[in-house]
Amino acid sequence: MHVHTCENYDRLSAHAAALVAADVERKHDLLLCPATGSSPTGTYRDLARRAATDPQLFRSISVIALDEWGGLAETDPGATTGYLKEHLLTPLGIPTERFTAFDTAADPATACGRIRAQLERIGPIDVCVLGLGVNGHIGFNEPTPSLVPHCHVARLSEESRRHAMARAMKKPPEFGLTLGMREILAARHIILLVTGDGKQSVAAKLLGKEVTTMLPASLLWLHDHVDCLVDMALL
Ligand code: GLP
Repeated sequence: MHVHTCENYDRLSAHAAALVAADVERKHDLLLCPATGSSPTGTYRDLARRAATDPQLFRSISVIALDEWGGLAETDPGATTGYLKEHLLTPLGIPTERFTAFDTAADPATACGRIRAQLERIGPIDVCVLGLGVNGHIGFNEPTPSLVPHCHVARLSEESRRHAMARAMKKPPEFGLTLGMREILAARHIILLVTGDGKQSVAAKLLGKEVTTMLPASLLWLHDHVDCLVDMALL
């Protein structure tokens, strides 16, 4: 894992957007797996700015969701899907045919099975943009004594249920749907964004380099091509 210290959130976002854009320049039809949440919103804003000046750049990329909140109403398009449409798909001009989302209308285990099968067809992921949960989770791979390798339904930790996206929902979700660590670690390039209130302690643990399932993000130390962008405010 290559750790970059960034002066502030805007610098971190600009750096991450530049890394993604450079990957797209090298491979125009790459597969992007983007996290949601406050960590990557600035990155997607900067990618949208790039798309405004270079509308052809993102023309051929495909996107697959990293995770989704569980228990949404059948008619609900999904919190992750809604976020990605607003911040990424629409600004970058990515049509729905090139976006794979968790099917919120299906039984959750079936929806995960479909994502796993789709990833086996179109994967591996070329570039995965991750945020770090306050408890060290990535996607909804929560700290637990053992992790599930493939896409699965995950019981959410209290920290995840207190996430701003969950608090905005009528009923706090009990479970989430998420890519597993194996699918994340199979990505060719991973960009981990370490930024946000209350993450000082988890950032320090991650940078301590101990690899443990009780801090799922620490498994990224086992991958050869991870850029970890850390907001200096956390150090
Ligand atoms: C959420 C999502 C993750 C996200 C993480 C951090 O629960 N499952 O995909 O990356 O927590 O969120 P934030 O960037 O808002 O701190």
